[in-house]
Amino acid sequence: MRNYSLETEHAESVGPWLEPLLDEVLEFRRDLHAHPELSFQEHRTTGKIFDRLVMAGLSPRRLEGTGVIVDVGSGPIGTALRGDIDALPIIEETGLPYASRNHGVTHGCGHDFHTATMLGIALMLAEMDRAQPLGGTIRIIFQPAEETMPGGALACIDQGALDGVPRIMALHCDPRVEVGKIGTRIGAITSASDTIRIELSGRGGHTSRPHLTEDLVFALAQIAVNVPAVLSRRIDVRSGVSVVWGQISAGAAPNAIPGSGVMSGTMRCLDREAWHEAGELLDRVVKEVAAPYGVEVSLEHTRGVPPVVNSEHETALIEAAARAELGPESVVLAPQSMGGEDFAWFLQGIPGALMRLGTHVPGGEEYDLHRGDYIVDERALANGICVLGAAALRTLPARS
Ligand code: NI
Repeated sequence: MRNYSLETEHAESVGPWLEPLLDEVLEFRRDLHAHPELSFQEHRTTGKIFDRLVMAGLSPRRLEGTGVIVDVGSGPIGTALRGDIDALPIIEETGLPYASRNHGVTHGCGHDFHTATMLGIALMLAEMDRAQPLGGTIRIIFQPAEETMPGGALACIDQGALDGVPRIMALHCDPRVEVGKIGTRIGAITSASDTIRIELSGRGGHTSRPHLTEDLVFALAQIAVNVPAVLSRRIDVRSGVSVVWGQISAGAAPNAIPGSGVMSGTMRCLDREAWHEAGELLDRVVKEVAAPYGVEVSLEHTRGVPPVVNSEHETALIEAAARAELGPESVVLAPQSMGGEDFAWFLQGIPGALMRLGTHVPGGEEYDLHRGDYIVDERALANGICVLGAAALRTLPARS
């Protein structure tokens, strides 16, 4: 009797199903690592994934351009799983035998690992389904272009990736979590970061007669100080909305008020609702702060991605699967990252969770993501496949 419900303490381990596939999936990952491709150019990667899924008797669907979606099993979908497949424009410095052969491009964020994890899950579930029907469907989304703004997730959603999907889960390599462990967090686990650029123009003139000008230097200073101040009083401070200017420039002489000036900065935010709220408020607040000075305001607000907000139930499913597959001590609390992750777009209408997959060798070298020397402990591959595979099975009705 197999039972994958959250409540089951002794759900059957998926490990034995993975065993015969693991070497091949590891090779698959190394091949991807040697042939990294940039966002929306993942043609070879897409072809490799597609061909292997077909070989397994599955019916994958290619997305427009790059990316693949495949359904494993039959009947209603229990969950979707998402893995991102793109690499970064960074020079690889790992010295590994399977280091990048595409100079200037590397899998410095571990997306080769995510792709292999998802392939491993698809192959493993396909085997299980052949032996005994899963009793439902698990959808696996191989998503292109996570490293772009606003991200390839939107292209997947536009092409029906979430049709019939009640929830979604994903993982990201974490070089700060030890291999054998996973990191989880209920609520926001990544953050939002938008870019703001404000241009002011007005009548310049002599600093002895500011009343005959539209003094935009003074107005810029007011915006710099008052826009963050107003937002801090209009939006819950716990949401961590933080507007910080990185650049202000206007004028050339101490006694001349210039005719134009510009400032730019970022608006970061820890909370999804506040991200929407702040986006709407920003435009109004900038204009209202500048209004008394008669200057002309043009605001360019480039939205990044919202924070990934993990739901309670889906996080619990992942944690239960991890404890069953990796042991009772395998779950650690993940801090909220200030980085962005386009998985957030999938969570705008349905619940889901992103987990951190530990890739750090205890006592070993410290790495960080988005660096040319990032080495993933390959033991993490089986961990990722087992945990997310088992979590996905827990969303299907129990098999008998
Ligand atoms: Ni990444």
